[in-house]
Amino acid sequence: MSDQIEKVFLNQRALQRIRLLIHKRLGIHIKEGKESLLRQRLWKLIQSKEFKDLNEICDHIDNEKDSGLLLRLATLISTNHTYFFREKSHFDYLQKHILPTIKLNSNKLRLWSAASSSGEEVYTLCMILAEAMGKKQFFEQVAILGTDISQKVLQKAEYAHYLKENLHQIPPNFRLNYIDPVSNDTFRIKNELKKVCLFRRLNLNMGRYPFKQKFHIIFCRNVFIYFDMATQESICKEFARVSTSDAWLFISQTETLRNLDVPWKYVSPGIYRK
Ligand SMILES: C[S@@+](CC[C@H](N)C(=O)[O-])C[C@H]1O[C@@H](n2cnc3c(N)ncnc32)[C@H](O)[C@@H]1O
Repeated sequence: MSDQIEKVFLNQRALQRIRLLIHKRLGIHIKEGKESLLRQRLWKLIQSKEFKDLNEICDHIDNEKDSGLLLRLATLISTNHTYFFREKSHFDYLQKHILPTIKLNSNKLRLWSAASSSGEEVYTLCMILAEAMGKKQFFEQVAILGTDISQKVLQKAEYAHYLKENLHQIPPNFRLNYIDPVSNDTFRIKNELKKVCLFRRLNLNMGRYPFKQKFHIIFCRNVFIYFDMATQESICKEFARVSTSDAWLFISQTETLRNLDVPWKYVSPGIYRK
């Protein structure tokens, strides 16, 4: 790091203040000694010339009404990396073991991708469900919500255009049915699939979630790593509150709810049931 950066981050009290603020408002715990990524990301904000130092960033977040800077900070410090059919065994499990058991009566099957990033997880779910249920039933009976703290990734998700270099992530039979080529470099998800999806901004660490109808299946993968155990616990309890009595919860296979006091029972790696 250059001398200029060192000077800004020499202020240990300000660094501690911003760590506490990120913990309190976002539930993200940055361990002491592990601040180098945080420093790099904060430096971007300071370089943008909007803020002269860390204290000014904290003051702004403390005083602002629309929490725009807090959300920008969340986007800067968490990674949005995602891809189609990520942890494919989860989708296999969904198709083989969950979908055949679901009885909908007149209700819709409601799924929630709770840290959806740019939409790849949501559209993977669409493809799996449309294929398993048949398009007619899928369009009539499925509703998928994608939420994220970052407005930028949600815009990408709604737009649903992706780089051709990522096309290989989608199995060939799905490519045929659910995507359209756009240009030499890009493809897009077919509009008909997009119709069952809704994207909204939501901070998982917000307290009570504002949903009236219950979810059958919640995907919340590769985001728990950012949260401390207390935050993970309260998020899981909220998931339970907004889901059906026999709902399913998917986290990443590299994450675990072990040691948490939550109303979710382990089924297999990354898969839990209420
Ligand atoms: C690594 S991506 C995971 C995407 C997808 N679920 C997957 O497994 O590929 C993590 C996402 O979590 C989002 N995120 C981080 N903190 C969040 C919070 N407090 N509330 C909601 N989303 C959050 C980030 O913006 C990012 O898009």
